[in-house]
Amino acid sequence: MATVLLAGGAGYIGSHTALELLNAGYEVVVADNYANSSPEAIRRVEKLTGKPVKLYEADIRDNAALRRIFAENRIDAVIHFAGLKAVGESVAKPLMYYRNNIDTTLSLLEEMAAAGVKNIIFSSSATVYGEANPVPYTETMPRGTCSNPYGWTKSMMEQIFEDAQKADPALSVILLRYFNPIGAHESGMIGEDPQGIPNNLMPYVTQVAVGRRECLTIFGKDYPTPDGTCLRDYIHVVDLAKGHVKAIDYILQHDGLEIFNLGTGTPYSVTDIVETFQRVNGVEVKHVYGERRAGDLPASYANADKALRLLGWKTEKTLDDMCRDSWNWQRQNPNGYRE
Ligand code: NAD
Ligand code: UFG
Repeated sequence: MATVLLAGGAGYIGSHTALELLNAGYEVVVADNYANSSPEAIRRVEKLTGKPVKLYEADIRDNAALRRIFAENRIDAVIHFAGLKAVGESVAKPLMYYRNNIDTTLSLLEEMAAAGVKNIIFSSSATVYGEANPVPYTETMPRGTCSNPYGWTKSMMEQIFEDAQKADPALSVILLRYFNPIGAHESGMIGEDPQGIPNNLMPYVTQVAVGRRECLTIFGKDYPTPDGTCLRDYIHVVDLAKGHVKAIDYILQHDGLEIFNLGTGTPYSVTDIVETFQRVNGVEVKHVYGERRAGDLPASYANADKALRLLGWKTEKTLDDMCRDSWNWQRQNPNGYRE
């Protein structure tokens, strides 16, 4: 069976993908510098699957470290999750974001070329659609103007992949544009473990529910949406991880460059999330309505037809599943991977 290198694979989406790849019979190698993660996540993946993962502590910008990994393993495909992802922090520290995110991509592409590795899947984001495209987003729409440096790094990296693939038609590239991943593995053993104050909605909700934070502020209730709060395409992280397995199956059989939205196609509001979370879990999430957050779009959701057509992938989990599994993880691990 083929071997897949997960760059940044100890993180939230990477750890869930490692688990699904192992369950599908792939060998998995993970390289991560733990900038936003813990090796404990991979230990738990090994426990859940009963299969080993070869784990390297390495910075993906470090060409020498990558060279060693490619020399020691027969890698058939790479999934590039490694990156910094906090939107607000990227506004305060743009150079750190450009340096980390773009350099990881350049080093990976350089060392893949040197080692003759021809398949790469990249974690992109719906944010590249920018502010002007109408929803639902389809992959044929042009990339737009991003509202923050994090978004720009994703847009620029997509361009880098397109140029690299054009220059080397033997290189196969898949750009996966994720919508809003939430939820956790149903065991509650792995999940999202943000450092510091969460930027994203669901970890904030679960930390309020578990008593780590006082109150959720819902950013804006005067948007042109049915209940006045923003609409997003929330996707269960296990569905998302299974999408990566389908993308690996596909890239090992096809050449060229493809872009896929990974979303459900169904938008939910912030109020929907809070109400569903309270209902399915029987816990209260104290919340208040506040000002809009700068840079938020009223609505972002996918047309997910292409992934179904070419990859044979569609989401299976419901919003109830997402809320239940997020809470199951948080309740069992009130402080994440820290004891
Ligand atoms: P995460 O922070 O949990 O995972 C990213 C991993 O990359 C972490 O384990 C981190 O330690 C590692 N990393 C960062 N810089 C590194 C470097 N220089 N060398 C080695 N490892 C490094 O985040 P995630 O939610 O799992 O996201 C994975 C990818 O998907 C990221 O590229 C992110 O931008 C992208 N993405 C995430 C979302 C989301 O909402 N979670 C949405 C769209 C795209
Ligand atoms: N929200 C709140 N209160 C909070 C946090 C979030 O009301 O404390 C709201 C936001 O205003 C937004 C929704 O919840 O309406 C979702 O916010 P998130 O921060 O969870 O997600 P975003 O849609 O803003 O951002 C996500 C990813 C980014 C990606 C972006 C583009 O986190 O990586 O989608 O699609 F760039």
